[in-house]
Amino acid sequence: MRKKITIVGAGNVGSTAAHWAASKSLGDVVLVDINEGIPQGKALDLLEASPVEGFDVNVIGTNNYEDTANSDIVVITAGSPRKPGMSRDDLLQINAKIVKSVTEQVVKYSPNAILLIVSNPLDAMVYVAAQTSGFPRERVIGMAGVLDSARFRTFLAQALECSVRDVNAFVLGGHGDTMVPLVRFSTMAGIPIENLLSKDTIDQIVDRTRKGGIEIVNYLKTGSAYYAPSAAVVEMVESILLDQKRILPCCVRLEGEYGQKGVFVGVPVKLGSKGMEKVIEIELQGQETSEFQASVDAVSELMEKVGGYIR
Ligand code: LAC
Repeated sequence: MRKKITIVGAGNVGSTAAHWAASKSLGDVVLVDINEGIPQGKALDLLEASPVEGFDVNVIGTNNYEDTANSDIVVITAGSPRKPGMSRDDLLQINAKIVKSVTEQVVKYSPNAILLIVSNPLDAMVYVAAQTSGFPRERVIGMAGVLDSARFRTFLAQALECSVRDVNAFVLGGHGDTMVPLVRFSTMAGIPIENLLSKDTIDQIVDRTRKGGIEIVNYLKTGSAYYAPSAAVVEMVESILLDQKRILPCCVRLEGEYGQKGVFVGVPVKLGSKGMEKVIEIELQGQETSEFQASVDAVSELMEKVGGYIR
């Protein structure tokens, strides 16, 4: 039987995720949104691409959570973008309420699903979904590290003038200004980038990676990135549904790893059929440790605030 993938939110991120997931034939896709007609129209349009692209999965759009019943994976992209005059806190409060109510609906119909959270502010929204669902940490995972690392790898490959496939690099910490691109573990075909690029170039790339989200917002003006974010979450879907056991940076609750307990933050994890199967610990050094701690502190502050909004 084909796997069932629900995607909540038929905006740019959700519908593009549906596109990647269907075109890779990862499973039947259910696109849910509160806007009437939008998920139905986008899903039907995508389904009608299947004879051309040759994918044999079903795609439906709906406003009704009953149609999502027994999903294997639920990707939550729902949330409001920041509008002029709105503070980050306003967004935090609005999206916490949206993610809470979506999660309640989702778990009612798919109590065994693995939840992948994409809504922003990411780490705090993973916390909201975890609190609301009561699911074990293995089944509530946030997408940010794969996206931030993809940006890091793109910029490194440009500087190295080599294939993106040969650049390995990852980003730890929260999805925000405090994220920690790990230069020491970044390589081109196994060769440390510090042997290949000047410190200035690496510093510029690290800074650009940290600001990768806003760089796109500044171009688009009316929205944020969606091709790379949706590709990133579908890479996670694929690793789980095909039990690939990829090692990918994701936001999960730490329970003692990295000396942290209870905080939701990005670290490398193994993704397989059970969801988050293992937190991969690496020994941080010097500045990496202090930068990671600063990121944990920033996320903890948001978690504390958001806790008040969902009680
Ligand atoms: C980004 C936003 C969407 O990083 O989180 O592009």
